[in-house]
Amino acid sequence: STEEMESRIRAIKKKMGSKLFMPGHHYQKDEVIQFADATGDSLQLAQLCAENEAEHIVFCGVHFMAETADILTSRDQTVYLPDMRAGCSMADMADIYQTERAWSALNGLFGDTIVPLTYVNSTAAIKAFVGRHNGATVTSSNARTMVEWALTLRERILFLPDQHLGRNTAFDVGIPLEQMAVWNPITDELEYEGPLEEIKVILWKGHCSVHENFTVQNIAEVRERDPVMRIIVHPECSREVVELSDEAGSTKYIIDAIEKAEPGSKWAVGTEMNLVNRLIAHHPDKEIISLNPHMCPCLTMNRIDLPHLLWSLEGIEKGAGMNQIKVDGQTSADAHMALDRMLERA
Ligand code: 13P
Ligand code: SF4
Repeated sequence: STEEMESRIRAIKKKMGSKLFMPGHHYQKDEVIQFADATGDSLQLAQLCAENEAEHIVFCGVHFMAETADILTSRDQTVYLPDMRAGCSMADMADIYQTERAWSALNGLFGDTIVPLTYVNSTAAIKAFVGRHNGATVTSSNARTMVEWALTLRERILFLPDQHLGRNTAFDVGIPLEQMAVWNPITDELEYEGPLEEIKVILWKGHCSVHENFTVQNIAEVRERDPVMRIIVHPECSREVVELSDEAGSTKYIIDAIEKAEPGSKWAVGTEMNLVNRLIAHHPDKEIISLNPHMCPCLTMNRIDLPHLLWSLEGIEKGAGMNQIKVDGQTSADAHMALDRMLERA
């Protein structure tokens, strides 16, 4: 039963004490979040793992986050992902072979003028590629700082794998949409109408399948029903949606904005369902709805549930922890450079 699983988890956590660390991303289910030692957005979780010394880190989030945790921790620490199927559809939209092909084609077109930046929602191999080519990782909470930094190094940026975070951030730093091209990794083609010299930002044609469910139509409906409702979205939403919203930011940004808001204020939130439901539960004094009335879950985040968490902890307790996330030495060292360039500035 649920109660039995919960009490087993509590007992194992108590027994292991500071040897065990369980970070949880804001999109995780309540049944998991209740046991998290720390919660945060992607940047906070990366920072917390870099500082933590626990022998066992059970990552309640998705695969790329667990890889990042492994890269940022020492060799005597082990990171586990309670369900290996907890991936990220956006991270899956860029593989290392496509990235290498894109890089050589783009260098053919533009010479040595491009800095690669990758959203942390990407494989360790891509972070390593970016690290080797003097680029850096970004998260939704420091993308602006990192894009500005990259443009002090070279004339152009290749931004992987989320075209929307890339476009929204480049737009925020003042780059016109006409100076942004899109790289299509399926056809290996650059999608762009104007003269090549104009291009400042090359956006990888990837997106988040959860955030693409928030639409201009959803915004029109909210505005019509209630003109004073504030609309806040994650920057993985499209440019059009971010443009029409009142605010956009990382999961932490969204949580803080609603926390600080006046009692009685009204919010339509464009992000993953578990977080929206938690905001609704934590703020009974505010009126909070999902921007898309059909709540949008991240199915892969939801793979981590009570049974998987307990199974993972029981394995560690028996000395046979399963689903260990181990990034190989060279990939880890190269990816570490890309992460460090971000963490120094974050
Ligand atoms: P943040 O928590 O960094 O805003 O990221 C959201 C997300 O989609 C993680 O996959
Ligand atoms: Fe990936 Fe989107 Fe899920 Fe975040 S919400 S883990 S970007 S699929």
